[in-house]
Amino acid sequence: MKIGTIDIANAIVLAPMEDVSDLPFRLVCKRLGADILYTEFVNSEGLVRNSEKTKRKMIFSEEERPFGIQIYGGEESSMEGAARMADEMNPDIVDINAGCWVKNVVLHGAGAGLLKDLPKMERIVSSVIKATNKPVTVKTRLGWDENSIRIVDVAKMVEGAGAQALTVHCRTREQGHKGDPDYSWIPKIKEAVKIPIMVNGNIFTPEDVHRTFAETGCDGVMVGRGAIENPWIFKQAKEFMQTGQVQTHVTVEERVRLCIEHLKLSVQYKGDRTGMFEMRKHYSGYLRGLPNVSKVRMELMGLTDIEAIVNRLLLFKDETLLLMEEKDVPAAV
Ligand SMILES: Cc1cc2nc3c(=O)[nH]c(=O)nc-3n(C[C@H](O)[C@H](O)[C@H](O)COP(=O)(O)O)c2cc1C
Repeated sequence: MKIGTIDIANAIVLAPMEDVSDLPFRLVCKRLGADILYTEFVNSEGLVRNSEKTKRKMIFSEEERPFGIQIYGGEESSMEGAARMADEMNPDIVDINAGCWVKNVVLHGAGAGLLKDLPKMERIVSSVIKATNKPVTVKTRLGWDENSIRIVDVAKMVEGAGAQALTVHCRTREQGHKGDPDYSWIPKIKEAVKIPIMVNGNIFTPEDVHRTFAETGCDGVMVGRGAIENPWIFKQAKEFMQTGQVQTHVTVEERVRLCIEHLKLSVQYKGDRTGMFEMRKHYSGYLRGLPNVSKVRMELMGLTDIEAIVNRLLLFKDETLLLMEEKDVPAAV
């Protein structure tokens, strides 16, 4: 798919996720093959108010390219101002969030709230495009609820306004994260527009990635929670699509190694205290399914020294390998 000068076939993209898709996690996913990375949503009002905390969310590393900054808001003027500020950071893409289902966001007419006012969504897309020289993409849902699915019209509208790609989380706002996503809309959207379409929602395994490309004819898939559970999914999905098999089997050693690498990146970019604190939400992802995870997670939460955390993780690896040997459990999952 082509977005501006970005040209990637069968792109596998990391989803924007608040408090998750930060710089350290994005780097982890990039090194494991994610083709495009997006920031978590960045509040346009916070940006135009010049909030340092909000501005920090746009910081990225050159290693991340191609990289997108996602902004959200329900007011044209602040979205335009935010797009200008995002542009100054020199990302490769500016993305508009038109899919967030959270009550506080939609109450302000932002996120999926835009699906209730398509003329406003169009004005916002146009204003953002005017405010930046970067390609603009949009991420949305099928519709507000099952009775108001207008995704084909939305796709035509954003294309007409000048957006260069559209990501569709194949659920309605009313569904939140519940229920099955309905991918059957994707071929209809593909028929109606020329811009690349990325599919999102419940893509958890390399096989899911392959199936989504094959069944929908989409140009990219976007992986959210599946990457928290398994950041190797990007690499594994590429292997699966090329050879029909996954070659990267994630061992206990690899899980602990990557967890420590992530912790070090977190501390490098956020400082000791914040880096350690913000890493806490990732331990369950890395150690998922292994014996005694809740106990070791609790212990890790209580530690405030990086070396002690690293040592506890290494000890956990040894303990787990020993347990697996005793019980004759395969070390790779
Ligand atoms: C913790 C969390 C935070 C999220 N934050 C954002 C966000 O900032 N911007 C956005 O567009 N979507 C956000 N989402 C939605 C995801 O990008 C994605 O659309 C959704 O999780 C469905 O994809 P998945 O099934 O692969 O997780 C978030 C989802 C989660 C789980």
